[in-house]
Amino acid sequence: MGDEETILVIDDEKVVRDGCRRVLTGKGYSVLVAESGQEGMDLLASEPIDMVLLDLKMPGLSGEEVLKEVNTRYPEIPVIIITGHGTIDTAVECMKQGAYDFITKPFQIDQFLLTINRAAKSTRLAKKARQFEQENIRNLYDLNLEKSRLKTIINCMANGVMVTNRNLEVVLHNPALMRLLEIPERHKDPVPVAELVHSEPLVATLKKLQTDDSSRDEFISQEIEAGKNTLRAISAPALTPDDDVIGTVTVLENITPFKRLDEMKSDFVNMVAHELRSPLVSIRQQNNVMLEGLAGSLNEKQTGFLEREAAKIDQLLELINDLLDIAKIEAGKHVQHQVPTDLCQVIESVVNLMEARAEQEGVTLRWACEDVKPVQVDPKGMEEIFNNLVTNAINYSPDGGEVKITARGRGEYVEIKVADTGVGIDPEELPKIFDKFYRVKHKKTRAVMGTGLGLAIVKGIVEAHNGTIDVESTPEEGTTFRILLPFIPPEAE
Ligand SMILES: Nc1ncnc2c1ncn2[C@@H]1O[C@H](COP(=O)(O)OP(=O)(O)OP(=O)(O)O)[C@@H](O)[C@H]1O
Ligand SMILES: [Mg+2]
Repeated sequence: MGDEETILVIDDEKVVRDGCRRVLTGKGYSVLVAESGQEGMDLLASEPIDMVLLDLKMPGLSGEEVLKEVNTRYPEIPVIIITGHGTIDTAVECMKQGAYDFITKPFQIDQFLLTINRAAKSTRLAKKARQFEQENIRNLYDLNLEKSRLKTIINCMANGVMVTNRNLEVVLHNPALMRLLEIPERHKDPVPVAELVHSEPLVATLKKLQTDDSSRDEFISQEIEAGKNTLRAISAPALTPDDDVIGTVTVLENITPFKRLDEMKSDFVNMVAHELRSPLVSIRQQNNVMLEGLAGSLNEKQTGFLEREAAKIDQLLELINDLLDIAKIEAGKHVQHQVPTDLCQVIESVVNLMEARAEQEGVTLRWACEDVKPVQVDPKGMEEIFNNLVTNAINYSPDGGEVKITARGRGEYVEIKVADTGVGIDPEELPKIFDKFYRVKHKKTRAVMGTGLGLAIVKGIVEAHNGTIDVESTPEEGTTFRILLPFIPPEAE
């Protein structure tokens, strides 16, 4: 098989040229011929030629001279010498001068083709090797270009970027990171992450991302303090295309201005709520005095008005109390009063308080406690948690059903569950329900009054006790809120 190689035959004898052309064309090679050494050199300069068959004895430019020229100018083209006498001496002589091989005249077709095919195969391999080499050079060039582009982008970013390897050493960082962490730029990568970032929670997160398989598709967002700044750090595991964890990537942003704004807003809400509460409380008290008949007797119509008024004022007071609670939680001042508390007692009293309401709505309330020892918590906070979760469970179960509250000791934790058989929550709503003022629009619960603060308060109290809360829900079937509180034994007297 010739595979399109072009062979140049340089020989002054027409018979040889024609013979070669016929045999080689028949085998799929393309053939060019030259009568003299000079004509051969000209063709080599103008045509893509893969192999040369060269007669040694020619008038004009001799075969030896042509061989020499080809070897210097086109070292990759093999030259096969055509010679009249096939002796060892000739062979040695040709090879010495740099020929690839030789063939003797008159040609033995088989022998001739064997030699040509061998040379063709070796040119083909050499060509491939050259191609590979060139591609390799190009790849390296592209890679370098890509690297320097990436470096420019990362260095110019306003956000801090930090990449660690599997040993939690920083292998890449940008100037913005050093600015945000207030570190003078003198670190050379790699440096252990704990030396650079003095935030234990962030280091713990990076460790978790490295080791915890379940956090593979996760981003972890957290606020960390760095000097006088508050930073938001968003971290993710660095994965290979095969999903192996090879390190972590963290992007940091300065959120100090937003924090200030948020504080100002909370202060404002707090102030307004306080200012509204005192006059409302005294209106409610006077309203009560009148309802009890202490300011003269009332007819039925007046009593009705005053009762509706009282209900509205109570709603307003509840909202104000919620706003004040949220403000307290956000200021980190909620849990101030932690005492040894029997959670089962708290649950029981909430259930007793709610029973009448549940019955009105056709909901059965049940509760159970297992292995729950007294814990060091804020009892008012716990009451608020159960109040909110059970009120929700009743409110969002319009067709009756069952609400079950359970508390269970689980080693270092107490697990609390509030499960209902109500309308449930769509999966896309779930991440939002703990946000302040967020309420799900649902045709069956449209009539339920509320401000969307309950769950934000619950979450705030749980977190102030270093606990966690999560929720599982199936639309039309029901919802279960699960709280884990670390079991801190009551302090020894
Ligand atoms: N048990 C539940 N079943 C179904 N949906 C629920 C349940 N609990 C909460 N939700 C949904 O989550 C939303 C937020 O609840 P959250 O308690 O924060 O506010 P709210 O009940 O609307 O108002 P409030 O501030 O008076 O509690 C609710 O509006 C409701 O749509
Ligand atoms: Mg609620």
